[in-house]
Amino acid sequence: MDTLEAIKTRRSINNLTGQVPSKELITQILEAARWAPNHFNTQPWRFTVLIGDGRDKLGDAYGKVNQRNLKDPSREMLETVYQKGFSKAKRSPVVIVVSVEPSDNPRVKKVEEIAAVSAAVQNMLLAAHALGLGAKWRTGDPAYTDIMKENFGVSEKGLVIGLIFLGYPEEGSVPEPPVRKSVEEFTTWVTE
Ligand SMILES: Cc1cc2nc3c(=O)[nH]c(=O)nc-3n(C[C@H](O)[C@H](O)[C@H](O)COP(=O)(O)O)c2cc1C
Repeated sequence: MDTLEAIKTRRSINNLTGQVPSKELITQILEAARWAPNHFNTQPWRFTVLIGDGRDKLGDAYGKVNQRNLKDPSREMLETVYQKGFSKAKRSPVVIVVSVEPSDNPRVKKVEEIAAVSAAVQNMLLAAHALGLGAKWRTGDPAYTDIMKENFGVSEKGLVIGLIFLGYPEEGSVPEPPVRKSVEEFTTWVTE
């Protein structure tokens, strides 16, 4: 698929089938990620690929965050919200947890490390699309919690930047493109 076509036709896919993409396909997606631009060649991206019961680690984090958000919960409520969170990790057959580990080099700015990993995620989404897979970049408040970081071994200065829900799109599940402003609306051309 042509690059520009991939950029334009990629969509966030909510409904994915249970079919697990092969390790080879997932590796191609990770391969695309590592070619993202990054200043000082710090390569600050880290990936944890969750498949099958491996997704329980994410479910556990969602569940624990739900529990912590409750005020004066009963034991029953604690269990209910934990299970509700736990099941969220099963929305796709594969989830890739993407985190940023910022360099200790004092010349390196954290915002640039985050920018580099964001570029890596876009590469992943485009690669998934080009390979016939569907993906959705999710965050939500739980992604930014200490609980999530702890479950995935992210350092104190690091952060989870995205949970990439990955699989094969269900038939008819590709949404219409969202409305986007035209280039003219947010561009200033300076020629002199
Ligand atoms: C940093 C980031 C975080 C996102 N987090 C969520 C999320 O938590 N839940 C969600 O439904 N979509 C999330 N999205 C996906 C956007 O909702 C989606 O990209 C947007 O609706 C545009 O649709 P498209 O990706 O098909 O162009 C996120 C996207 C980005 C870039």
